[in-house]
Amino acid sequence: MNLAADPRAVESLLAFWADAGVEASYADDPIDRLAEGAAMLRVRKEPPAPVAVAAVATPAFGRGPDLGAAVVEAQALAAACADLPALAAAIAAFDGCPLKTQGARQAVVSRGPADAPLMIIGEAPGADEDLQGAPFVGRAGQLLDRMLKAAGVLDRAFVTNTVFWRPPGNRTPTPQEQAVCAPFLERAIQLVQPKMLLLIGGASAKSMLKRDEGILSLRGRWFEWTSSDGQTELPALPTLHPAFLLRQPAAKKKAWADMLMLSERLDRPDRPH
Ligand code: URA
Repeated sequence: MNLAADPRAVESLLAFWADAGVEASYADDPIDRLAEGAAMLRVRKEPPAPVAVAAVATPAFGRGPDLGAAVVEAQALAAACADLPALAAAIAAFDGCPLKTQGARQAVVSRGPADAPLMIIGEAPGADEDLQGAPFVGRAGQLLDRMLKAAGVLDRAFVTNTVFWRPPGNRTPTPQEQAVCAPFLERAIQLVQPKMLLLIGGASAKSMLKRDEGILSLRGRWFEWTSSDGQTELPALPTLHPAFLLRQPAAKKKAWADMLMLSERLDRPDRPH
């Protein structure tokens, strides 16, 4: 039998050996792998030529386009919105956020009851949200909904994001992009008047709370969110992003503990928290 010419014969021979309990194959003579390695080291006498590395500018907070005028425009537009449909229309018509011209199909604003006692603020729309025009509708959103439902708060949640357009390649939104969208988000908070905020993921928690710590240190603790005019304060709970939970299922335990803290406060607002 010519094994090289007939792959099915090789397959059948391997299956036969496997059935017979053959798990390793050995050559007729021993091979000195240590001597082989030493010989290879002798051949590599010359140090490898240095590889040129291009200097990479690290983006820092405050860099990037000057979006001050766009923030002022967003503030004026948002203040003029009397209700959520007007706010959604104003966001869709707003051209001041650079994300709008970086490949996003449409503005993704919110879903959920307009008088919800809980407002959930994610980071940014992803591919599914960009297609469907609603926040948290992809795999991560479905996991979030299952957790909210299990905690008994899904029907009481208004869901939105720190920015309203999908960042290219699903990158994290920059602080500048978040700052331009913030007046609209704040107006949404004024209109809905939730009793508390759930901040999903590090980019949301850092932007809303103006803090630098990572989400693993922020999550599971109540903070006070303060509006830009200092007039409104709301309890805010940072938690892990469901996209992270899909990659790290062991972290679901922590996220579930956060959900219980949230539902406890929503159901029993008079107890100390
Ligand atoms: N991730 C978010 O932060 N927001 C969404 O709307 C979807 C995924």
